[in-house]
This record gives sequence, structure tokens and C-alpha cells, in this order.
Amino acid sequence: MKLIKSVGSMRLWSNQTRARGKTIAFVPTMGFLHEGHLSLVRRARREASAVVMSIFVNPLQFGPREDFVAYPRDIQRDSALAGAEGCDVLFFPAKKQMYPEGFLTRVGVERMDGVLCGAFRPGHFVGVCTVVLKLANIVRPHVLLVGQKDAQQAVILGRMLRDLNTEVRLIVCPTVRERDGLAMSSRNSYLSPKERERALAISRSLFLARKLVLCGERKAARILGQMKSALSRGGISDIDYVAILDAKELVPVKTVRGEVLIAVAARVGTTRLIDNIKLRI
Ligand code: PAJ
Repeated sequence: MKLIKSVGSMRLWSNQTRARGKTIAFVPTMGFLHEGHLSLVRRARREASAVVMSIFVNPLQFGPREDFVAYPRDIQRDSALAGAEGCDVLFFPAKKQMYPEGFLTRVGVERMDGVLCGAFRPGHFVGVCTVVLKLANIVRPHVLLVGQKDAQQAVILGRMLRDLNTEVRLIVCPTVRERDGLAMSSRNSYLSPKERERALAISRSLFLARKLVLCGERKAARILGQMKSALSRGGISDIDYVAILDAKELVPVKTVRGEVLIAVAARVGTTRLIDNIKLRI
């Protein structure tokens, strides 16, 4: 696997690879890789002839009181994992490469960034859109792979790629979970054993919601009420949101019908965790 650190070398590799008639699949990440990230690489290998992963902890998507400095980093371990999974290139740019002096531009998707995590993390999705569009312009992939774990991010990026007439095809891959249901996340490394146990209430509340819908419940308010009770029984009281929305437009619904997203964000200790499920009725 090739390790590339400069924008110029990355661009050169992509141009040469495209010129040879190869297709490129791209998996952007912030590193501290786990099975969730690696599942995207596996899918990427099926979708294109070359796979690029990026690792860049993007300062633009962290708020001033968020965990940019503390965010876990281990490039040695990450590059071993990415290589073993069959990545052809690991793009690992320094902050100066991505945001040189004089960088002023921002990219955003209106309305959709004002709900769910966007309402609690002002500027977050503008940071995500800006960095992903930059990375896509550098890597020039045919296919971009993201995880359903970050449902709002996936919807917003899909809309951005479509609205801006890019030729990149977005693939959203299923959420990878631990055996007990906890959605994998780099931030799980912040949890103490006791917090790890309490964090399970989040996925449990989502599985409960799915069960209720499968049993015929269609009233969002009733489902949300039961989810909140399940969260509080599990020891989770610091909830940012529990919501049921139209999965494509990210508008809250009163009645479950069509494709809906059921999403939770809550703090376990000081760690903010998110999870969701998508249902089609
Ligand atoms: P990061 O949190 O590192 O996640 C990178 C990609 O892995 C995202 O597409 C995310 O949805 C996916 N992912 C994370 N956990 C997953 C899981 N348990 N199952 C399946 N996929 C999972 O998301 C980001 O980084 C950043 O915002 C980024 C898009 C790289 C822009 O900076």
C-alpha cells in the first residue's frame, strides 16, 4: 500500500490511475479504524479496481468545545489495517495540505444541517461537506463509500454530490455493530467498562422501536415515548435527540410510513454517541 501525504502526489496518482482505465473507490475517514471502516473498504474493493482511503481528523467539523485534540489517533496501526484490507493508497494529509493559509471557502447543504446532530453541532456539516468535496476533488473517485452509522452525514453528502453535479456515485454501507448491538465507533474508546454497558441502551432503544413498528405501531410519538423510557431505564438521561424522520428529506414525521430514519444521540458520561436504524414500511 502506498502512503501519500501531499495533495500534489495524490492528484498525480489518481490522474495516472484513471489514465490507465482503472476505476477508483474512495473511503474518507478520520482514522482509529475499526470493523465499520474496514467494511467500507471491503465493499470498495468490489466496486472499483483501485481503493483509496483517507485519514484526516478534520478540524473544520469540530466545535470549539468538542474533542478535536483528544480524538484518538494511531496512524501505525491504521496503516497496517488498511494495507491488510487491500487499500491501494492511504492518503494522510497534514492540516496545512488541506487548509493552507488563505483558505476561506465553505460548502453546505441548507435545511438538512439544521436538524438532528446539526442542531447540536453548529457548523459541523459545513465542515464535513467542505472536507469531503475537497477530498473528492483531490482523489477524483468514481465511487465514494460512507456508513449508515452517520445517517445524517450520508444523506447530506448525497444531496451535496447531486446538487453540485459531481460524477461521484455514493454508496451507503450498513452499520457494523459489536456482538451485543453497540454500533462501532472510534469514540467508543472513550468509554469506561461501566459506560460501555450503559451505552447499550442506545441500540436497544432502536431495536425496541423496530419491534414496535413491526408489531404495527405507526404513531411516532408513542414509539419515541417508549424509546425514551428504555433509554432512561438503561441509565441514559443526557439525550440530545430521539427522532423519527423521513429518511430522504430528514423532516420529522408524525406517522411511520415509507422509508423512515429513527435516530438517537445521547451522552454517556462525557462521550457523545449516535446511532440509528432505517425502516421501510
Ligand atoms: P469517521 O467517523 O472516521 O467515519 C468514516 C466512515 O466510516 C463514515 O462514512 C462513517 O459513517 C463510517 N463508519 C463509522 N462507523 C461505522 C460503523 N459502525 N459501521 C459502518 N460504517 C461506519 O465520518 C467521518 O469519519 C468524517 O465525518 C468524514 C466523512 C471522514 C469527513 O471528515
